[in-house]
Amino acid sequence: MIKAFIGWIILFGPMTLMAAPLGLPEVTVPADNPQSAAKIELGKQLFFDKRLSADGTVSCASCHQPERAFTDGRPTAVGIRGQVGPRNAPTVLNAAFYTSLFHDGRADSLETQALGPLTNPIEHGLKNTQPILALLRNDPDYRRLFQSAFGEAPEKAQPEHIGKAIASYERTLVCGNTPFDRFLYGGDETALSESAQRGLRIFRRKGNCANCHEIGLNHSLFTDNRFYNLGVGFERLKGKFTQFVSAYKQATAGNQTDPAAVYNERERSELGRFLVTGEVADIGKFRTPTLRNISLTGPYMHDGSQKTLEDVVEYYNQGGEKNPFLDPAIYPLHLTEQEKADLVEFLNSLSNPACLFRPGRFPNPGEI
Ligand code: HEC
Ligand code: HEC
Repeated sequence: MIKAFIGWIILFGPMTLMAAPLGLPEVTVPADNPQSAAKIELGKQLFFDKRLSADGTVSCASCHQPERAFTDGRPTAVGIRGQVGPRNAPTVLNAAFYTSLFHDGRADSLETQALGPLTNPIEHGLKNTQPILALLRNDPDYRRLFQSAFGEAPEKAQPEHIGKAIASYERTLVCGNTPFDRFLYGGDETALSESAQRGLRIFRRKGNCANCHEIGLNHSLFTDNRFYNLGVGFERLKGKFTQFVSAYKQATAGNQTDPAAVYNERERSELGRFLVTGEVADIGKFRTPTLRNISLTGPYMHDGSQKTLEDVVEYYNQGGEKNPFLDPAIYPLHLTEQEKADLVEFLNSLSNPACLFRPGRFPNPGEI
């Protein structure tokens, strides 16, 4: 009887909760933005709505496509009027577990992150969020959803409501239960091939990968949420970063020089975490990304410069790209051909194809 009761609590939890998928912890939900079915639905509608862009051609899902595990399959993202950005669109699957968002960690919550692309001139291209607020206030479906999501009149819609609704939807996009999870956490010794099991050992030891892409006792996010310089894209900064740093210092010291003017966006982007902290030691650092669903989300790295997982493994094997800021945990690995193949086989075990959707099919909460 008691056992059944405990089982019931574990299964259904204190309501909000769909049980966390195997291998993942529970998603943390901020106190001022509790999950609700209506808010999630509102966020989902917004995520797929092209009316949220300057020319009606772009939605969040243009770059975060459910049929590509919420990426776009391109090296770097393409926004309104075919404009090409400097960075690769990361997956939104499991983004709920990051402690900071974007490759350089410049947003500290999904709520604030969601407002970024809407007014980015080369993404959704809106001047401000007014057109979206107008939609929430005037479109009958949005009016109804807004009212039940926030218990307020749609006339009261503010930008923060947009962020909250989209973030609530994104918190449902969690995806675990991969062969790796079934092997390590589900007690299924047959879930990984011999080769993938050897790859797991290399990942933890000789390859030093788990140093940053963490594997935990009860679950794994494959990220430590920290920032490192691997040298990716650094050749675009070669011989120029001293110039940039002094321009940046002048600008922040009150001089009106716009540091952005010194470089085009593609070069500037390579400064990575430095753009957020202004610390020289952070030049070229990017956040450790999760490796969940990695076989579905190529091309790789913040600039999409690595095409395949074989390429990525070779990049690490060579010890990254030499530069004055290269992290000491990145060094030549001297892997044999077999070890490289095993490592790739292991990386391939981190995906759950159930998290891919037919074009036009928008996953509902609890489906994945
Ligand atoms: C034009 C393509 C494009 C559109 C449209 C777009 N994104 Fe993105 N998204 C990106 C790129 C590129 C990045 C990484 C940018 C960076 O790090 O500077 C990103 C990053 C993110 C992240 C952070 C993921 C991580 O690993 O930190 C989330 C979450 C996200 N986008 C959600 C959204 C939402 C919500 C919308 C709609 C409001 C949206 N995106 C619209 C391309 C796009
Ligand atoms: C010092 C920390 C660190 C170590 C060690 C490390 N990584 Fe990474 N990894 C990162 C960071 C940071 C990035 C993002 C770099 C970028 O975008 O420029 C990354 C990116 C990746 C990517 C691309 C992810 C994507 O979505 O584009 C893969 C795959 C990857 N690492 C696998 C590995 C493997 C395999 C190893 C071991 C051979 C390894 N990593 C070792 C920090 C690390």
